Amino acid sequence: VLTRLSGTGKKLSASEALVTFIKALPHPQPEKCRGARCKRRRRKNLPMSETPSFAGRHVFVAGGSSGINLGIAQAFARAGAHVTVMSRSPDKVQQAAEGLRALGAQALGISADVRDPAAVDAALRQAHAQFGEIDVLISGAAGNFIAPAADLSPNGFKTVIDIDLNGSFHVLRLAYPLLKKPGASVINISAPQGVNPTMYQVHACAAKAGIDMMTRVLAMEWGEVGVRVNAIAPGPIGDTEGMRRLAPTPEALANAVASVPLQRMGTLEDIAHMALFLSSPQAGYVTGAVIPVDGGSSLRGGRDMRASYVPREAA
Ligand code: NAP
Ligand code: COA
Repeated sequence: VLTRLSGTGKKLSASEALVTFIKALPHPQPEKCRGARCKRRRRKNLPMSETPSFAGRHVFVAGGSSGINLGIAQAFARAGAHVTVMSRSPDKVQQAAEGLRALGAQALGISADVRDPAAVDAALRQAHAQFGEIDVLISGAAGNFIAPAADLSPNGFKTVIDIDLNGSFHVLRLAYPLLKKPGASVINISAPQGVNPTMYQVHACAAKAGIDMMTRVLAMEWGEVGVRVNAIAPGPIGDTEGMRRLAPTPEALANAVASVPLQRMGTLEDIAHMALFLSSPQAGYVTGAVIPVDGGSSLRGGRDMRASYVPREAA
């Protein structure tokens, strides 16, 4: 074989034969786009596309009337999607929908509590009637506060589990029949508490750990119909209700930043970019992943909330 590979009748060494063999293999070249835009981009050495287009796609955001989830809704609106935002407050959802329309999107705001499966079902059906099958489902409704477990009432614990964990289950289960199959992207909004034991956060830790596991189980159950299920676990994100509650003083905020290896708070865009990526064809082989977008803060483990705790009676 080695002699035959040389093509000259001369016997080759094993390494020479390997090189000859590899050279002889067909090397398919990626097809080049010949459009003017692509040529310009190649000349400037720019990536072929900055933001994937979601033109005409239906994006449903549970808990989408403020903060991180609204930031995600706005990013999809800018990328051309039709966007539905759902949360409890009728004023907040209407205001959020108006803001999305101002970005050029078709948008719907629906008031519903994720703890009420009938209300969630009605909201999903209304959105489906307006914009059709759901291409991207974001489940991010949540409630949180700092409380030592010993002082947390059963109803306090239950309230957070009901909103974050049970609420996410209602949203995902009831949306399933209305998802675009194959192709839909489902994203749960988790938190570092899902993996990092965090003092005074027993309710949020239990809820978000449940969401992480639900992400993995549903990725397995829904993979065969072409629905991908992932989660984003944001780190400390500036100017959000979550941070106002978990870092209520300037010192606590400074500590939060100091705990991030990248030494800054995250932004709404940091999270929205990951949601766009996870819902794009480029992430077509990603499912069941819980992805920290946290400047590396989860590498340092759970934050100690004791310094941020203000007893309710003193607040
Ligand atoms: P936020 O602005 O308070 O967002 C929570 C959203 O959920 C609001 O739109 C709220 O609107 C809605 N909501 C709350 N309870 C609901 C219920 N029972 N039914 C329906 N909607 C409900 O807070 P955020 O800080 O941006 O947090 C957004 C998500 O990111 C949450 O899942 C949170 O756990 C996660 N997260 C945040 C951070 C952070 O640094 N902020 C870090 C890690 C993870 P209504 O009041 O109108 O219901
Ligand atoms: N410490 C301890 N317990 C608390 C608490 C706190 N800071 N805040 C609320 N609770 C308890 C209440 O005492 C009550 O229990 P009880 O009946 O035994 O007294 C229980 O939680 C429910 O409170 P309630 O105010 O009736 O709940 P709600 O459904 O109106 O609101 C919350 C839900 C409490 C989570 C509220 O903070 C909320 O709406 N949050 C949404 C915004 C948010 O948290 N954003 C950040 C997301 S990370």
